[in-house]
Amino acid sequence: MTTQDDKKRAAAQAAMQFVKADTIVGVGTGSTVNYFIDALAEKQDLIKGAVSSSEASTQRLKNHGIEVFDLNEVGSFDIYVDGADEITEHKHMIKGGGAALTREKIVAAVAKTFICIIDDTKQVPILGKFPLPIEVIPLARSYVAREIVKLGGDPMYRQGVVTDNGNVIIDVFNLDILNPPELETTINQIVGVVCNGIFAHRGADIVITGTDNGAQISQ
Ligand code: A5P
Repeated sequence: MTTQDDKKRAAAQAAMQFVKADTIVGVGTGSTVNYFIDALAEKQDLIKGAVSSSEASTQRLKNHGIEVFDLNEVGSFDIYVDGADEITEHKHMIKGGGAALTREKIVAAVAKTFICIIDDTKQVPILGKFPLPIEVIPLARSYVAREIVKLGGDPMYRQGVVTDNGNVIIDVFNLDILNPPELETTINQIVGVVCNGIFAHRGADIVITGTDNGAQISQ
C-alpha cells in the first residue's frame, strides 16, 4: 500500500530532476520539503547551496552540511521547492500550516520557478477547507480577527505559536475562496496583517504530485 509519506517522498525525489548544477536552490518548509532536503543532501556536491524559508529548514539543511545563503546576498535563482496545504487546478495554494508562510512567500517571489511538491490529498476544487493561516503583528490580533469576521470567516488564534518573525498566526475557518487573488489582496490590506497563506498572485509554476502510481508532473 502506498502511504501518504511514500507519496510525499516520491514528489520530493522527482523534484530533483529540476535541480541544475552549480545553482542555489530555494527551499520551503514542512514534512514534504524535509524529504526534498534529504534528497538534496545526497547530491549536495552538485549545488552551490540553498536559501531557506524557515529556521527549521535552515537547521535541517545545515545538519546535512548544505550551505545556507542569506536571501539578501544572492540575486534571483532558478527554483523554489515547497509543499502546500491545498492546491487547485489553477495552481493557487493555501500554505502556512507550518507557520512559515511569510518567508515562504518572500523566497518564492525571488525564484524564477515555483515547484510545488504534494501528495494527492492536497488537491482541491476550491480553496478553504484547510483553515487559512494569516501572520499578524501581535498587537493587531483582535482587530484583524474582527475584520476577518466581516469577510465571512471564523478566525481562531493559533495558541502557543510564534513565527520566525516574532508574530502570531490566526487560522480562518469556513471560507469558500472562490477568487483567491482577490481575497489574497483584500486580506493583505487589513492593517496589522503581515502576510496571508493564499498563494495566488504568485502561484506554483510546476506541480509534482505523489500518487499511488508515482510522481506526476504538471506544468
Ligand atoms: C509551511 O508553513 C507550509 O506552508 C507547508 O509548506 C505546508 O504546510 C505543507 O506542509 P507539509 O508538506 O508538511 O504537508
